[in-house]
Amino acid sequence: MHTLLESLISELKDRKKHGEKTVFVEESSLQALAEALSLSDSDPVNSPASPVADEKTPPQPIVSPEEVARILSSRPEITTPKEQDVHKSTKDSSVSAFPPPPVLTLPEGSKEERYAWLKDRILGCETCKAHVRPGKHIVVGSGNLDSPVFFCGEAPGAEEETLGEVFVGRAGQLLVKIINAMGLQREDVYIGNIMNWRPEMDSTVGNRPPTSDEMGFCLPYLRAQLEIVQPKVIVALGNTAITGLLGPDPKRKMGDVRGTWLSFNDVPLMPTYHPSYILRNGSMRNKRIIWEDMLMVMEKVGMPISDKQRKFFT
Ligand code: URA
Repeated sequence: MHTLLESLISELKDRKKHGEKTVFVEESSLQALAEALSLSDSDPVNSPASPVADEKTPPQPIVSPEEVARILSSRPEITTPKEQDVHKSTKDSSVSAFPPPPVLTLPEGSKEERYAWLKDRILGCETCKAHVRPGKHIVVGSGNLDSPVFFCGEAPGAEEETLGEVFVGRAGQLLVKIINAMGLQREDVYIGNIMNWRPEMDSTVGNRPPTSDEMGFCLPYLRAQLEIVQPKVIVALGNTAITGLLGPDPKRKMGDVRGTWLSFNDVPLMPTYHPSYILRNGSMRNKRIIWEDMLMVMEKVGMPISDKQRKFFT
């Protein structure tokens, strides 16, 4: 247990060193940690005087390495549980019961026809509909179907589910500024999300990252969008997008992988921070970090880069 906590503390220190100020921790993970901590008080190893010490039974960690990994892979750019107050949600237990992910075979036809077919499928998806709040919308990725760059976010937020459009809230406005700084307009690129609906929670404010079941269910819809657009580069915005696309990997740390080329189905994938992270931690240094990632994207797709652009945020 001691070792697990030590590795957690060391990971948090590392993230702090990389400028991250908040770490999202699910309520269930907090509970697991609380249990682990209270257990360690009575842990025979840590408390030799414990009356419950049983020499024959080695102490069992309540938090498995997988659970610690899951805690550590939580995305850092969202809020604290207090601000979110969402994981008391009774709905969380219901969202884990998902049917198998949809099996999609795109029809022959133009990109526009294929996109229209897919959009109908997503908007008609019974599981998606069942998870959308009354009066709100399923959100489908949109933009230039010929874009060489495919931006992939996490999930719709409040504004997106109200308007039924991707990235139209504050994070979206910042994303558009980034796109503009690249010399492009929003309409020039394609923007999608791992999720088609805003993950449910009891609170109307704040967002929670999707569960792996939710992401797993929606992934075929994202794959189909990628198959239609056939971008030269995917920009994965934030840990959730990276995990949703590439699967969980406890060893994968945002501070290490951002600015490096990964790949999804043979398409080069640039991991970078989610714009909401910059909204919370908008230092020049962090802006420059994202910008350097975008310069690499521009180079990869052969976009012209001026001297002025190269020096942004220095
Ligand atoms: N954040 C996302 O990841 N996606 C959106 O559509 C909006 C905010």
